[in-house]
Amino acid sequence: MVNAPVKILIAEDEPTMLSLMSTILEGQEGCVLRVAANGEEALERVRGEHPDLLITDLKMPRMGGEELTSRALSLQPDLTILVATGNGTLESAVDLMKRGVFDYITKPFDVDDFLTRVGRAVEKVRMMPLSPDSQAIIGSLMRALETKDPYLKNHSSRVASLARQLGLDLGLSYRDALLVERAGLVHDLGKIGVPEAILNKQGPLTAEEYDQVKRHPIYSADIVRPLKEFKECLREVYHHHERMDGKGYPDGLAGEDIPLGARILSVCDTYDAMASDRPYRSGLPEETIRAKLLEARGSHLEGDFVDVFLKRTIPS
Ligand SMILES: [Fe+2]
Repeated sequence: MVNAPVKILIAEDEPTMLSLMSTILEGQEGCVLRVAANGEEALERVRGEHPDLLITDLKMPRMGGEELTSRALSLQPDLTILVATGNGTLESAVDLMKRGVFDYITKPFDVDDFLTRVGRAVEKVRMMPLSPDSQAIIGSLMRALETKDPYLKNHSSRVASLARQLGLDLGLSYRDALLVERAGLVHDLGKIGVPEAILNKQGPLTAEEYDQVKRHPIYSADIVRPLKEFKECLREVYHHHERMDGKGYPDGLAGEDIPLGARILSVCDTYDAMASDRPYRSGLPEETIRAKLLEARGSHLEGDFVDVFLKRTIPS
């Protein structure tokens, strides 16, 4: 089968930089290039043209790169994003990748490094493309879910991205890491089946309410089961709330009986739930999150996975 061309959108306000990137990428086989001179224009193009890969500057007029990446992921949760950053400290790079960005490029970049990173992103897009129909279905369901629980905005994209990274750090093949990422993208879709009053409740849930929450991984798997692109990661979606000690749900699996991808998701999901704002509290400070993740080693979460995750995400 001939691959469909990979649609790349570059958002960059600096004409010299834009023409440099365009010149480098125009020669790439199987890629179609579009450009936008500011964040607003780029967002419009994401909305209308559904690019596969967005390469964006951070500082731009009429919407900077940070807002653009957040809004673009909300429109198209599986969008692969590369951020070109002028102040490429490790901290800002790590932070962007925690927010669902695939990779970053530091400016001024050298051509080889730029091509390597774009090449990796294109490889990801080509390896396991979601059909336009599946993209549209997932995107629409995600937005429906976000209207019920606005605090879930971009949670799935962030968990997916962190899970891919953790999978790679643990030595998974690129393909397997992408499957875990894919499961991350839809793991909470089943919350559509949980009443809003429960999702947004401030304070502890009753036993009956908690029983309803516990059904969401089953619903998530049911929702994506008809889409063939999710066939290989259904178990990861279904089991993302199991615990190492067997006290999780829906099946109470323990230890290595829990699919590896689900154990990876669990670490990233737990992290993001603590790092994000909730109706009743702001995101927790990183040191608190680190302590809580360490506390959950072995009981709730796979201990080794926590260690590898912390090393990259909250280095001490
Ligand atoms: Fe969940």
